[in-house]
Amino acid sequence: MKEVNKRFKKIQEVQMSKYGFNTKAIHAGQPDFQPNSMSTPIYQSVAYPFFDAKEAAAISSGQKPGFTYGRWDNPTVDAFERRMAALENTEAAIAAASGMSAIFLLTHHLVSPGDDVVSSNRVYGGTFGLFNVGLKKMGASVNWVTNPESIEAWKSAITPRTKFIFVETPSNPGLFIADIPALAALAKSKNLPLVVDNTIATPALQQPVLLGADIVVHSTTKYICGNASSLGGIICGSKELIDGIRQNDIRYLGPAMAPFNAWLTLNGLETLALRMERHCHNAMVVATFLEKHPMVIGVNYPGLESNPYHKLIKPQMKGVSSLMSFELKGTYDDATRFIDSVKVFTHATHLGTCKSIVTHPASTTHSAMGEAEMRKAGISPSMIRLSVGIEDEADLIADLDQAFSSISSKGKA
Ligand SMILES: Cc1ncc(COP(=O)(O)O)c(C=O)c1O
Repeated sequence: MKEVNKRFKKIQEVQMSKYGFNTKAIHAGQPDFQPNSMSTPIYQSVAYPFFDAKEAAAISSGQKPGFTYGRWDNPTVDAFERRMAALENTEAAIAAASGMSAIFLLTHHLVSPGDDVVSSNRVYGGTFGLFNVGLKKMGASVNWVTNPESIEAWKSAITPRTKFIFVETPSNPGLFIADIPALAALAKSKNLPLVVDNTIATPALQQPVLLGADIVVHSTTKYICGNASSLGGIICGSKELIDGIRQNDIRYLGPAMAPFNAWLTLNGLETLALRMERHCHNAMVVATFLEKHPMVIGVNYPGLESNPYHKLIKPQMKGVSSLMSFELKGTYDDATRFIDSVKVFTHATHLGTCKSIVTHPASTTHSAMGEAEMRKAGISPSMIRLSVGIEDEADLIADLDQAFSSISSKGKA
């Protein structure tokens, strides 16, 4: 039997026919619609009617669980947050509109004027900009660790005004791998939280809190969603931290995750472990192929034994994910010809989706830098970045092979 939803009781107690067209267009049909659902329902709603004034007061003051307004709570987003907290081994989580807004909310919450943040300089460009420019606007600053392989370098960057230590591992696009337990021990000794951006690994491959970190952030736009359909971000941490961000920062800054994006991303999470297994497998096949190819100078993929970070993988990761870069023996033009020749790989500035993606940093993500600046950042004109997807491995290899052939045959012509 259908249960009557008492939250709409005022209008359903009377016959709908007594109302005018406009009132019916707004209220008819809703009151008793309450079936159970196998898939998490999408609560595409910004507000949640109260039973009575007493309940409204109890929910608003936090004495009774419930939802009030979509900028800081929503049932579909709540399901996503709870699932992410469970996967990242934290008490709670708060979702945001994008990965950058998650990192911004956390920074805004923890930092006051005069404070500083200690961060590896091997971070995603948006994070680099937030710490370099955004922190200044907050009256704070960043102490970059330019040699993040060295724990001593991290130690000497910490000041009495440091509020948190930030590391992205593996990093995008450089694939730096941090020693998380060693960094966590340093953070603990200084009574500071260690924040890990776990976007590239995902909790299916790396669980930073089990390695000693305190807070985990993600761009869920990438592998967690998995099909390039939804921007999203998340902060996973203690209940005290997450409650603080929900009650203060997200309330007045406002970058909430949309319910539909939460729903799409929840669906992505259900297959995350399976997808990551296949991403890792295909990436290893591609990296091994590239490493042996005569037109490749070098491959940057920590899954390869030749990679300097390879020894850090086993103690902290179940797999190396599927982001890599390689340097083509050739010029900027050869690299763009290669990009234009691939057919299975999609040319885009994105990563971490089921589809394989190819990017040429020198003509896209890093094109604003001059060549000298680019080289300082470890990017050459012929560098190509790959995010290896979950297609059939033979098709990926054949696609790369024909792209190499097309540039070598053009060279001969
Ligand atoms: C490691 C990492 N963190 C954060 C971000 C920012 O995420 P978003 O694009 O969802 O804002 C990205 C984006 O590429 C990223 O690669």
